[in-house]
Amino acid sequence: MSRIVPAPEPGSEQERRETQVLDEVIASFENTPDERLKQVMGSLVTHLHAFIRDVRLTQEEWDEAIAFLRRAGDITSGSRQEFILLSDVLGASMLTVAVNEPARGDATEATVFGPFFVEEAPRVELGGDIAQGASGIPAWVTGTVKDTDGNPIAGARLEVWEADDDGFYDVQYDDGRTEGRAHLSSGEDGSFRFWGVQPTPYPIPYDGPVGDLLRATERSPMRASHLHFMVTAPGFRRLVTHIFVRGDELLASDAVFGVKESLVKDWVEHPAGTATPDGREIEGQWNSAEFDIILAPAEEGDAEDPSSAAPTSQVPQHSRPE
Ligand SMILES: [Fe+2]
Repeated sequence: MSRIVPAPEPGSEQERRETQVLDEVIASFENTPDERLKQVMGSLVTHLHAFIRDVRLTQEEWDEAIAFLRRAGDITSGSRQEFILLSDVLGASMLTVAVNEPARGDATEATVFGPFFVEEAPRVELGGDIAQGASGIPAWVTGTVKDTDGNPIAGARLEVWEADDDGFYDVQYDDGRTEGRAHLSSGEDGSFRFWGVQPTPYPIPYDGPVGDLLRATERSPMRASHLHFMVTAPGFRRLVTHIFVRGDELLASDAVFGVKESLVKDWVEHPAGTATPDGREIEGQWNSAEFDIILAPAEEGDAEDPSSAAPTSQVPQHSRPE
């Protein structure tokens, strides 16, 4: 490692040289027509320069940072998005959610969207099976969609998606399967129910530069077990969230910092032979969970058509590792 050059004395010529660069860069943005862009770039370079000076970044380290970004770009494709992963493991994704989704009364909390959502998942009727063949312990999920005054919301659209018990989403297999995802609508009384599979932990893709970073920092790539929801209804703010599994030992160390206590649910185990709520014949154990969803009213600036407001990070993260 090359020598770290110590910080200059306050008021010294060297300090002036270092801070002068920032002044020049800020000045270079002076004529930016878009005020918001000007603000964002000004703040970005201010923090970047402060970071470089704070750690006394060496030339070698900067070169390695550039090489890291180069590798992230090289591995990114139509089916792999390393920069979203990087954002996730640095907590930037979750912080952006926190900034943009402050608590709205009793409304259900949001969490990270993740990379495995797929548009136009199959529709299932109430009580249908979203697993569609995905492996795992069958799990019966029920709840009611309500507004913040407790009134049921009929016809809310619920998109649900999850990994199988090998820890893979359908899009991570290269055979084009569609499993572990569907959409359904809440009933007249706002209620919903469907079969899925018991969520299990899975690693985020770690065979690229982000994986190298996790290894170098002795961090785990594992995500706490979860089931994804995106819930929309006219007049309400879109909710993107997950539910987690109480007792999962990964709750405290989720690789992308997505866990919120209010989203941790009891998944009740029903031993083999226990009757199912809808008479479905299941040979072994099945589980059940309840999740009541409260949607906040739409706000100015929210998309009018909730279905058009899907988040942008909908790129399948990677192919299944061999
Ligand atoms: Fe996920």
